[in-house]
Amino acid sequence: MDFRGRVLLAPLTKGGNLPFRRLCVAYGCTTTMSEMAYAFQVVRKRPTELALLRKHADEPCFGVQIAASKPDVAIEAGRAAIERGASWIDLNCGCPIHDVVRRGMGATLLQRPAHLGRLVETMVKELSVPVTVKIRLGWSEDDKNASEVARIIEESGAKALSVHGRTREQRYSKAADWDWIAKIVTERTIPVIGNGDILTWYEARDMQLKSGCASVMVGRGALIKPWIFREIAEGREYQPNAEQRIGIYRQWIGYQKEHFRIDEKGRKRAMFFMPWHLGFLCRYRPLPAAQYYEQSKVHPLMQTRLVDLDEVSTLERLLRDPREQVHQLLADALWDSVDDAETIARFHTIAAAHPPTNSESAEVAVAHG
Ligand SMILES: Cc1cc2nc3c(=O)[nH]c(=O)nc-3n(C[C@H](O)[C@H](O)[C@H](O)COP(=O)(O)O)c2cc1C
Repeated sequence: MDFRGRVLLAPLTKGGNLPFRRLCVAYGCTTTMSEMAYAFQVVRKRPTELALLRKHADEPCFGVQIAASKPDVAIEAGRAAIERGASWIDLNCGCPIHDVVRRGMGATLLQRPAHLGRLVETMVKELSVPVTVKIRLGWSEDDKNASEVARIIEESGAKALSVHGRTREQRYSKAADWDWIAKIVTERTIPVIGNGDILTWYEARDMQLKSGCASVMVGRGALIKPWIFREIAEGREYQPNAEQRIGIYRQWIGYQKEHFRIDEKGRKRAMFFMPWHLGFLCRYRPLPAAQYYEQSKVHPLMQTRLVDLDEVSTLERLLRDPREQVHQLLADALWDSVDDAETIARFHTIAAAHPPTNSESAEVAVAHG
């Protein structure tokens, strides 16, 4: 498997489940990744963890990301993923959350490079598919050791390295550092997958041009507009209007009904995800290159607070509404409607019952990040 020239869907806990990945595939994504699975829970055969390893036939190339610290556990979990169709196994070395780092996994591995090297080496030796590693720049601003970590990962036999251009301590408020990604590209020979702040096709192109990375990986950009893969592939924006976006959401509902089933239990499971997803989808704004390219060179559009100055239609305003209560209503309407026309009618009823208040109008103006 070649990790060059690809646009990967990033591993996204809660976001990257099978129905959402199918939607990304329908809009041009050819390389998908699972949400992070705890290796020790896979080994214990915990059903919710095993569910994360499931691949859909539509996915041409699917990688499973595991969080692990012990080689034997990583190998057993990796084999379970391979049995279920994983084309490669990715080791998470970037997850910042407390529950992961206190168990010696995720970003903790950045602080133990020798241990990380042994872990990767054993995985490479024992697993029948390529092994990749996803890292951050380091633990903190004072401890950016990505160069050393990348060298050890390459020497341990990993086939590619994804670099999220931030440290463990950094939140999303600061821009991802593409210069650091460029530095690692020049220092290493294995393909580097650049990751951080890609929201448009031209930012994907610029990340590749500026850093020389072999491939790019898109996270929040895909949650905000799953059609970003088509835009990157075609090198132009695709600007679906409100009605067209409702059509896309309904396509996604179809995948969810297939996956979770249409009974009450399935509905409940889908509802755990759908309003959350709508919290990302509501941030979509068209960002044509002609208008935004220069701005994107100064500051990532993902971090930009775009103000909606234009008059927008009722449906458009509703799809941009940031209120969780509204997302729940939209999710219910999407699930319960039989076709696009009924969804649109229900959406109009919701819009009429929930006009934006002044503070919400101001909040609607806040977009990405
Ligand atoms: C909701 C969410 C869930 C994430 N889950 C994971 C994960 O399971 N594993 C991982 O390595 N990174 C995870 N990340 C980080 C992303 O994969 C990616 O590295 C980061 O968001 C930067 O890329 P972006 O600017 O394109 O979003 C997650 C990010 C978000 C927003």
